[in-house]
Amino acid sequence: MKFKYAMVGAAVLLMSSLAQAGVSKAPWGKTADGKAVEIFTVSDADLTVRITTFGARVVSIEAPDKNGKKADVVLGYDNVAGYEGDTSTYFGAIVGRYGNRIAKGTFSIDGKTYHVPLNNHGNALHGGPAGFSSKVWTGKEIPDGVEMSLVSPDGDMGFPGTLTVHVSYTVVGKSLHIKYAATTTKPTVVNLTNHSYFNLAGDGKGNILGTVLMIPADRYTPVDATQIPTGVLAPVAGTPFDFRKPTAIGARINDANEQLKIGSGYDHNWVLNGSGNGLHVAAEAYDPASGRTLTVRTTQPGVQFYAGNFLDGTKTGKFGVTYQKNAGFCLETQHFPDSPNEPKFPSTLLKPGEVMLSETVFTFGVK
Ligand code: BGC
Repeated sequence: MKFKYAMVGAAVLLMSSLAQAGVSKAPWGKTADGKAVEIFTVSDADLTVRITTFGARVVSIEAPDKNGKKADVVLGYDNVAGYEGDTSTYFGAIVGRYGNRIAKGTFSIDGKTYHVPLNNHGNALHGGPAGFSSKVWTGKEIPDGVEMSLVSPDGDMGFPGTLTVHVSYTVVGKSLHIKYAATTTKPTVVNLTNHSYFNLAGDGKGNILGTVLMIPADRYTPVDATQIPTGVLAPVAGTPFDFRKPTAIGARINDANEQLKIGSGYDHNWVLNGSGNGLHVAAEAYDPASGRTLTVRTTQPGVQFYAGNFLDGTKTGKFGVTYQKNAGFCLETQHFPDSPNEPKFPSTLLKPGEVMLSETVFTFGVK
């Protein structure tokens, strides 16, 4: 008898380890200019993630707390109009073709200089005013998730080459995997990332200053007054940028520090120690009240940790709560800002015949 039960147990275990996340899709209204938008729901026992074709954005992530109670842990809106009406936060979006900043929107490839639109203090940010975050992508169900695809034409937002991008979101157990692939018809620059804002206590549940953060990085890239890296890889030791030991985000965010003043808090790129070895840890976050943890692993060399400093109470999210300063934090795994103008930074150049690949994994847990 015992043996029989053990057999059944083993079979159930096998089946559940082979179980695929459920995937469904539904219409999600239209953009102001009439393009149909869809939303996909991907769920496994521990995680339910909704992703819309508008900007290939993560709309919600439901994850359990230490008592098993689920809450949505990312900021965002209820509908497309919410996302379309907000051109400054990039909630949940895939940003590109060049996520983060390019100084003065100017770079050169093979001796030819390109100028892309300026949308942030005289610099280009997140691919320009009509970047990938504002495009309607094509969504397709795949095992355990959804693949979002976009063809960005030659000259789109000033960038050379037709760029074909595929971003897959899959849920496996407690992890959300994001895989990026891009190809081009002419040499171009590419830096793709996801711009989700996390609040591990739950969307709209106060600020993230008590969240304990760890970033395994000995160095970061300090910036000038317009948030362009100076080119120096500066040691974090002895500064409020040292997160090698887990530290509350709010512990030093208001310290008298020139770099913190420029970003109104943390809004900087860290140089990840593990870079070059496949998936490595980019950050670990822990909300002591709910017990929720988030571990971020990536194949990218850097992470922009942005503490939501520019949220100012003018945006109202999914749960009817206005997002105040520090309502969420971003961990944007990426190449370093302004890499096209910094030959010593890892290269963001993509040539025809090459495939730019990267992966980031967000794992939710409790302690
Ligand atoms: C940037 C911030 C910006 C935010 C939203 C972040 O990636 O570093 O400066 O305010 O995106 O646009």
